[in-house]
Amino acid sequence: MKSRKPIYLDYNATTPIDPAVLRAMLPYFKEHFGNPSSNHPYGKLVKGALNTAREQVANLIGAKPNEIFFTSGGTESNNYAIIGTAFAKMDEGRHILTSQIERPSILKPLRYLEEKFGFKVTYLPVDEHGIVNPSDVEQAIIDETILITIMHANNEVGTIEPIEKIGRIAKEKDVVFHTDAAQSCGKIEVYVDKLNVNLLTVAGHKLYAPKGIGALYIKTGNTIDKFIHGAGQEMGRRPGTENVPYIVGLGHACEIASDMLHDFGQRAKTLRDQLYNEIFDGLGEENMKLNGHPELRLPNTLNISIKGIVGEELLSQIPEIAASTGSACHAGSTEPSGVLLALDLTREQALGALRLSLGRWSTQEEVYEASQLIVGNVKSKRTNNNGSQIISLESEKGTREPS
Ligand SMILES: Cc1ncc(COP(=O)(O)O)c(C=O)c1O
Repeated sequence: MKSRKPIYLDYNATTPIDPAVLRAMLPYFKEHFGNPSSNHPYGKLVKGALNTAREQVANLIGAKPNEIFFTSGGTESNNYAIIGTAFAKMDEGRHILTSQIERPSILKPLRYLEEKFGFKVTYLPVDEHGIVNPSDVEQAIIDETILITIMHANNEVGTIEPIEKIGRIAKEKDVVFHTDAAQSCGKIEVYVDKLNVNLLTVAGHKLYAPKGIGALYIKTGNTIDKFIHGAGQEMGRRPGTENVPYIVGLGHACEIASDMLHDFGQRAKTLRDQLYNEIFDGLGEENMKLNGHPELRLPNTLNISIKGIVGEELLSQIPEIAASTGSACHAGSTEPSGVLLALDLTREQALGALRLSLGRWSTQEEVYEASQLIVGNVKSKRTNNNGSQIISLESEKGTREPS
């Protein structure tokens, strides 16, 4: 029997490398191997490639090339933004604002600052759609607040935060504002000036570049301490010989994402809504709940809770689908996602969640097949259980994970 690859519905966890990105990278593993710091033709050629990539990343987010610093990915960019700002500004104050639905690469460096350096962090709640209220941000700012870090779009439910409004408040109050745009770059418009941010995180593998490469946007004039110490690469702000092939790949991926942004958004949204409608038609309104904001959401992201199922169990029974029940970092854990609990879902609703995220190569046929597999499996489970195991979506609320 010919085995088929599972239908990939986990583009928020990672994306495959675009073949055009790979083609652009390959010469930099072979003939263009020079060190960008070398003052001879081998070095100059790759230095030029770095400059092009810097421009390509800058163009995607409306920044200047000299405001782009290459890193090893989203995690490093987030750590650099937070720890770098904290160390540069700790004499002015030790208070930071964030939300309860951030990634570990935001929450863990914040914990580190709390435990080792006596910082105080306010973890702002979100509403039932996962939105941070800008007036909560305004009220939480105190004289000692030196940084606000709030993600642009949530990786699990896709909710897009009101970054522009929060940025305006941060600007008025003269507080540095960072946003983790790992999930939004390449999926929706991300323009640093419009968003009013000082710092912004880009992660390569969420936009069809390789894993292990990313960038931090640092607005001109922004004070931030160096995170890694060494030689003078990256304008002295991120030492270490540059990962040239991956940087070239990131640049190319940003250029492609820029060109495709509008069409991708339309196409992903159509497929996502088809997926939702087909599952909805199969299971009925009373058996499913949409998680995240109905409109202010990434066009490719569908997160639903299905009544009476445990997401992990369901997906283990459908090997034809590769999807997620929370973020990739929660994989293997049976604990409900802290993000979903922060949106006030019950423990059962959170455990019954599926995250289905679409991408550049998702097709209508795949969406149809996936929806039929999900509906068929849920229904057969119901029949086998004779309805007795069905968990109410309205049952008792779960305990919140520490944020
Ligand atoms: C919103 C967000 N930020 C940061 C990261 C971490 O990025 P990286 O895997 O490049 O370290 C992820 C990855 O899942 C993410 O979804």
